[in-house]
Amino acid sequence: MKSGKKHLYELPVNDISTLGTYAEQLQREAEARGLTLPPSARLQIGEPSFRTPEHIRLAAQQSIEQELMTYGPAAGWPWLRELLAQKIQRVNGYQVESQHVAIGMGGTGVLQATFTATVGSGDEVLIPNPCWPFYPMQLATCGATAVPYPLDPASEWYPDIAQLERLVTERTRMLVINTPGNPTGAVFPRAVIAELLDFARRHDLYLLSDECYDQIIFEGEHCSPATLLEPDEFENGRFIGIYTFSKSYAMTGWRIGYVVTGAPLIKTITQVLSAEFTNLATMVQRAAAAALTGPQACVIEMREAYRHRRDRTVSLLKEYDRYIYSPHGAFYALVNVESRNGEKRQGRQFALDLLHAHNVAVAPGSGFGSVTDPYVRISLAASDEEIERGVRAICEFADR
Ligand SMILES: Cc1ncc(COP(=O)(O)O)c(C=O)c1O
Repeated sequence: MKSGKKHLYELPVNDISTLGTYAEQLQREAEARGLTLPPSARLQIGEPSFRTPEHIRLAAQQSIEQELMTYGPAAGWPWLRELLAQKIQRVNGYQVESQHVAIGMGGTGVLQATFTATVGSGDEVLIPNPCWPFYPMQLATCGATAVPYPLDPASEWYPDIAQLERLVTERTRMLVINTPGNPTGAVFPRAVIAELLDFARRHDLYLLSDECYDQIIFEGEHCSPATLLEPDEFENGRFIGIYTFSKSYAMTGWRIGYVVTGAPLIKTITQVLSAEFTNLATMVQRAAAAALTGPQACVIEMREAYRHRRDRTVSLLKEYDRYIYSPHGAFYALVNVESRNGEKRQGRQFALDLLHAHNVAVAPGSGFGSVTDPYVRISLAASDEEIERGVRAICEFADR
């Protein structure tokens, strides 16, 4: 049998999408048998419940009508890269030029291109535990080894430098950080970012900072490590920033994100982008440009809706005595579903049982790393009603 590369074939299947598909299947089967399930709550995926704002959709329509859909430059059209450099200054607080930016297929696409451009077989990359499940998958496709470093809910899910020091070896090439974090919702303060940057300098590592939720902050400030760099350090590629339109502008399906780093590294990443897909569709780039130049009220409105849902979630968890921490950004919350008598409970089995019993889908914590085995992750991007129904069902089911 030819089944492709063994280490990729044997990677664990992404639980979040399989659980969503399974939930749909159960719903269809029940309908076919004339059964009525309890009203559903789909809290498993980080998909904004909002439509992409109208002015962004219109810009894409106009582009289709008025422009030739030709090939384009692999790093993106110059007019978009220029606008992105301005956005970095306006939102992220550091100065770059268009040659420091390249666009790709979502945060996912630019991450994959960046890993391919920087690490390979024999290299180790420090990634958070828990983390967005695509980091280990993507590193596996490059042949690099993911080395998870634990985050601890008792310290607001911040990384511990002493732990990182224990895990670093002469093969370590990169430290990946993610703030605001998925699945934790942690927002690292400036002092933590400074320590992480010093660690990367001490061991001469790339510091890859996934800032895909940079505009979804409820408390505190988003601090990019790039704001703490010397200009020559930036140009030399110490820092790599990852960004996306998916979350702040409700554009998940449009597939556009961007990477920001020194010009020489952008050149290497662009080679990979070019080899992977040549260029993104011009209409998508026009939509992204409209997002950047149009009214920003939509970003604030969506963020405030997520904040409201975060607040409701926190108060429900307090009501059921399952509260541990408050997410300060992104749109997720981790809920510990261990039973009261201390008996260990696997988040994965819990998620399946919950789906069968209450038609509520959540992401099993094990999909994000071993630290979150006894947790499930809920997405605050779901509707208010789903959150209310879903969180109550989770807490009652955990207490059964
Ligand atoms: C931490 C993190 N990074 C990157 C991404 C990728 O985002 P995109 O939809 O732009 O590919 C996600 C998506 O959920 C994420 O949570």
